[in-house]
Amino acid sequence: MNEIVAKKRLAFDVFDFWVHSPSISKEAKPGQFAIIRLHEKGERIPLTVADTKPEEGLFRMVVKVVGKTTHELSLRKEGDTILDVVGPLGNPSEIRNYGRVLLVGGGVGIATLYPIAKALKNSGNEVVAVLGARTKDYLIMVDEFREISEVFLVTDDGSAGMKGVVTDAMDRLFKEGSFNVCWAIGPTIMMKFCTLKAMEYGVPIWVSLNPIMVDGTGMCGACRVTVSGRMKFACVDGPEFRGEEVDWDELLKRLAQYREQERISYERFLKTAGETK
Ligand SMILES: Cc1cc2nc3c(=O)[nH]c(=O)nc-3n(C[C@H](O)[C@H](O)[C@H](O)COP(=O)(O)OP(=O)(O)OC[C@H]3O[C@@H](n4cnc5c(N)ncnc54)[C@H](O)[C@@H]3O)c2cc1C
Ligand code: FES
Repeated sequence: MNEIVAKKRLAFDVFDFWVHSPSISKEAKPGQFAIIRLHEKGERIPLTVADTKPEEGLFRMVVKVVGKTTHELSLRKEGDTILDVVGPLGNPSEIRNYGRVLLVGGGVGIATLYPIAKALKNSGNEVVAVLGARTKDYLIMVDEFREISEVFLVTDDGSAGMKGVVTDAMDRLFKEGSFNVCWAIGPTIMMKFCTLKAMEYGVPIWVSLNPIMVDGTGMCGACRVTVSGRMKFACVDGPEFRGEEVDWDELLKRLAQYREQERISYERFLKTAGETK
């Protein structure tokens, strides 16, 4: 159980894992996530179920190294196991035939978007995807998206596709054709500006929020967010919400809450692991 059966590097700091967990592989729906703990002293972190192979009992997680736990995970090899894997958690995405759908993914958010894109395609939608990253070396899963959607690439430096940010591409696409609904998944700041852009054109938008989580089952409130003026727990009420209803500035403030402790913990880990990132 919880064995890493395949591992691949997708970009400098992004790793693609297939993990053995028959229950998650059978039950997970697009939009859901798992909480993992590497070892007895480890913290619990949420990671999206990026794909499944129920016949083989496997699920996929695509992980970006941002701190101690994700770095420690990136050092795990095929054949290693993960102590705890809990899931699937959260509400599935609202998949139905909307017509024409615009999907916007930024960085590792592209992996979170992938199962949603597949399910929307299978439900008869016409899917157009904007995939954004800092440079072409950080763009992931482009070929997989090309199999199911029309793809527009955007990079900060113009090394692949359009130079700029994903909202520039949204602007162009919204001017050229109509969309019935939009999804944006990526860094919080990106989702905030994608929401403002979609609102400018009157297109409804779904976002997948990534607040700090602890239990992931609705017991602690660490993941609380304000949606339509009401407190919601992202792990049980989300993680997907309508972007127009989210209090973005509060969420951005809460995400920065443990930055100092995260830095100290990561530095301590790097020292004991004897390496630098
Ligand atoms: C529902 C959900 C699904 C997620 N799915 C994925 C996924 O599929 N792949 C993936 O790589 N990551 C995903 N994340 C984010 C992932 O959980 C964090 O990157 C991880 O917890 C960081 O742990 P760490 O100890 O390595 O870094 P930490 O030391 O905790 O953090 C290092 C830096 O990353 C920032 N950070 C930490 N947590 C988050 C977060 N949740 N969102 C944005 N920035 C954060 C911190 O502010 C800090 O600057 C998801 C988060 C949620 C809530
Ligand atoms: S993580 Fe504890 S309630 Fe959501």
